[in-house]
Amino acid sequence: MTDGLERRAWGVEALEASGDGPAIAALAAAFRDNPLNVAVVGGDPERRLDSNRAGMRQILPSTRRGGVALAARTPAGLGVLLAQRPGAYPLPPAPLGAQLRTSWAQGLRVALRWRRVFEHLDRIHPRDPHWYLATLGVDPAAQGHGAGSALLAALLRRADRDALPTYLETDRAENLPFYERAGFRTEQETAIFGARIWHMQRPVGRD
Ligand SMILES: CC(C)(COP(=O)(O)OP(=O)(O)OC[C@H]1O[C@@H](n2cnc3c(N)ncnc32)[C@H](O)[C@@H]1OP(=O)(O)O)[C@@H](O)C(=O)NCCC(=O)NCCS
Repeated sequence: MTDGLERRAWGVEALEASGDGPAIAALAAAFRDNPLNVAVVGGDPERRLDSNRAGMRQILPSTRRGGVALAARTPAGLGVLLAQRPGAYPLPPAPLGAQLRTSWAQGLRVALRWRRVFEHLDRIHPRDPHWYLATLGVDPAAQGHGAGSALLAALLRRADRDALPTYLETDRAENLPFYERAGFRTEQETAIFGARIWHMQRPVGRD
């Protein structure tokens, strides 16, 4: 690799609350240019970063209560995975104070647009028991070096132990081969605010 970072099987650890600052920064940067984020927040990259930080700050603590938060550390940056355990979806709403802080930081228009996105996703979300891969992001400087694969493999081992399927949504066509290699198949394609969404599921007991 020209940047000196090898592709390898990075270790995966539970993300403790003390690590939330770097995790929020990594996720905010990872999702900055994703099509859905651009469609919801708009064309200004700095604004999208700010908006993502506010959203992730709200999502991280509630996800940890309803599932797992994992991290993979590379010398170039952090990868983070947030997943909800079977039966945990939908997570209870964040405390009112946290919701108000997020809306204030994102702006009411953006906060309401995100709400419409979550309502859209909810209409398609499977009701049978499953693991839900809610968020997977790798710091852009560390992408393409195996951190995302290591995190995904850790979650899928857990789903296999439970003999349950895993479900996710993605808004980037570039991610489809990454998830297909791990056994996911597109079940449905939808769109919201002009951004395409692939709803993918990995069944139990794939070979
Ligand atoms: C998608 C993502 C989590 C993959 O993690 P990663 O550590 O970059 O991926 P790995 O190195 O383990 O695997 C590489 C594979 O991921 C896919 N990939 C998707 N986006 C990529 C990117 N920006 N850079 C490199 N690989 C990417 C490719 O299929 C690649 O396969 P290849 O090496 O044969 O080309 C990461 O690129 C990311 O954070 N992207 C932006 C946010 C996002 O879309 N998250 C997923 C939301 S569902």
